[in-house]
Amino acid sequence: MGASTLMPASYIAHSDINDSVFVINLPYIKFGLGAAREVGYEAKRLGITSVLLVVGRRLAESKLAESVRSSLESQGIKVEVFTDVHIEPDDEAIVQGYKKVKDLKLDGFVALGGGSTIDTAKLLNLLYTYPADLMDYVNKPIGKGMSPPGPLKPLIAVPTTAGTGAENTNVAVLDIKKLHVKTGVSNQYLRPSVAIVDPLTTVTMPQTVTASTGLDVLNHAIESITAHPYTSRPAVASPADRPVYSGSTPVGDLFAPVVSWVVKYLRRAYADPYDIEARYYMSLGASLAGLGFGHAGVHVPHAMAYPIAGLVSSWHPPDYDFGYPIVPHGISTAIPAPYAFRFLAPYNECKFRLVARMMGLDDSGSPREVGERIFDFYMKLLEDLHLPTGLRKIGFTSADLDRLVEGAWAQQRLLMLSPKIISKDDIGTLFKEML
Ligand SMILES: [Fe+2]
Repeated sequence: MGASTLMPASYIAHSDINDSVFVINLPYIKFGLGAAREVGYEAKRLGITSVLLVVGRRLAESKLAESVRSSLESQGIKVEVFTDVHIEPDDEAIVQGYKKVKDLKLDGFVALGGGSTIDTAKLLNLLYTYPADLMDYVNKPIGKGMSPPGPLKPLIAVPTTAGTGAENTNVAVLDIKKLHVKTGVSNQYLRPSVAIVDPLTTVTMPQTVTASTGLDVLNHAIESITAHPYTSRPAVASPADRPVYSGSTPVGDLFAPVVSWVVKYLRRAYADPYDIEARYYMSLGASLAGLGFGHAGVHVPHAMAYPIAGLVSSWHPPDYDFGYPIVPHGISTAIPAPYAFRFLAPYNECKFRLVARMMGLDDSGSPREVGERIFDFYMKLLEDLHLPTGLRKIGFTSADLDRLVEGAWAQQRLLMLSPKIISKDDIGTLFKEML
């Protein structure tokens, strides 16, 4: 592999018209088998004396939650427990949650759970530290996109899924109930102070949760590597205007081997939840891909995932029977991913050849041939994980096309990172192919 494969000339192109700077705001990650037992030590180190433990209701009854709680209490830390966590949280649930905790005396937060739990803790911390209308903080154009005036209370995230990377990101995703849109809050202060990543906490993940979160890891890795280079963004008038997601960078590209780990270990973790080697590499891969996309960003599959998750009306996968329709985040990104990657392969040729190699595929031939191979590989992976390979399988019809396109088109923050300048027609074509 020549240096040019990883370092397109565009990374070192310099002009006054385009930006020439990117930011890596590295998180503090404690990783390893049994690391979750050290949460009390980390909380004390951060000066926490009274903490809100944010944990889903079912997990709150587990031995893991008990051990996290006793680790905190063994350090003399007072623990309040918040269990009102919604899967794929919405604004109303967050505001209700905030009302429950606003009068508690807290100087720190611990999140134990998957992406929804960690994002809930981020938003509770934001509202608790700097009370305001939640919509003030929600990304433009849906909200005002305001940044809080300074750092939040310390938050320790202990993920129990290996996927979202929420423990390392500056973003919290939420639905705005009245508008039926999924959007987010993103600013430099949202990221947890400490991420404790313990692969042993992931062995209880049900099969479909393993599959969904694992595919999210795969997409984070592929999208952050193939995003347009940070140097293709227009120069910013002020450093404050530089977006959190910069576009691909040589640093993000270093995490390309995560693709090969998912290829090797996701089927194994799916087949045997106690395959510790597989859980180890999926957890580490989730964190590393989180570092990559946390600064470089994600693009078309994630943008298309928003309306898929927001508009589903009649489907939920096995292991997600909560009494309402749901497309979990990882599955909502995995359905468009093969179609988007096939379409985009010719527009970032060297990076998609790198992805193909990481998948163990032949990277020779035309960019379109490489895109086809990635497509076939991805569709086979979805079938092996018993996941839907198209939109009809989750209840969508051609009558939904316009709303799907509009929903994806609203995600300009992500679409602007596409390796091809993408049009509404492109998005429409991709959704049609997925039906
Ligand atoms: Fe994601």
